[in-house]
Amino acid sequence: MVEIGIIVLLAYLLGSIPSGLIIGKLFYGKDIREHGSGNLGGTNTFRTLGKRAGIVVTLADILKGTLATALPFFFGTEMQLHELIPGVFAVIGHMYPIFANFRGGKAVATSGGVLLFYAPLMFVIMLAIFIICLYITKYVSLSSILGALAALVYSIIIWDPPLVIVVAILAIFVIYRHRANIKRIKNKTEPKIKWLGGSAK
Ligand code: G3P
Repeated sequence: MVEIGIIVLLAYLLGSIPSGLIIGKLFYGKDIREHGSGNLGGTNTFRTLGKRAGIVVTLADILKGTLATALPFFFGTEMQLHELIPGVFAVIGHMYPIFANFRGGKAVATSGGVLLFYAPLMFVIMLAIFIICLYITKYVSLSSILGALAALVYSIIIWDPPLVIVVAILAIFVIYRHRANIKRIKNKTEPKIKWLGGSAK
């Protein structure tokens, strides 16, 4: 039981590592939360600091989810309730990081990292839907939401009820953290990504 508590705490701390803030401050002297959408995630890093930093931050955020989900294996511990509980805590850390005044990201990349470790095919489906939707709409936020919902639909199709619950929790996180984006999409003020022919950054 103590080990499970330690794993969950470590997962939260791992998720709390603010990769966007670290890269931004260290190499560009910028807090990306004061630029663009104000989000501490890969998309806003791309927008604010460019492609190279965006790729590094996105990969780092994915890795946080993957490593946190792998923690029980490092400890040789079996998780109660569900193996993905540490992953859920990593995503909570990513959204509300203790190391960055609880102002973090929108749960997408870290959730992807969690699924990548546990169910790689689900990650591939999430990524495929994300890419297709991004190509068509040029909205990263909408593509992220649809990617998360695609993972949920997949978990329902393969019918693994505990997995459905965990993926539903992750999808709720993603949708909740995109509230402002959803409003902007409705108002047609959400920026489209430039490099796919969008009108704004
Ligand atoms: O993963 C976050 C993305 O879906 C939206 O980011 O910065 O455009 O709000 P942003």
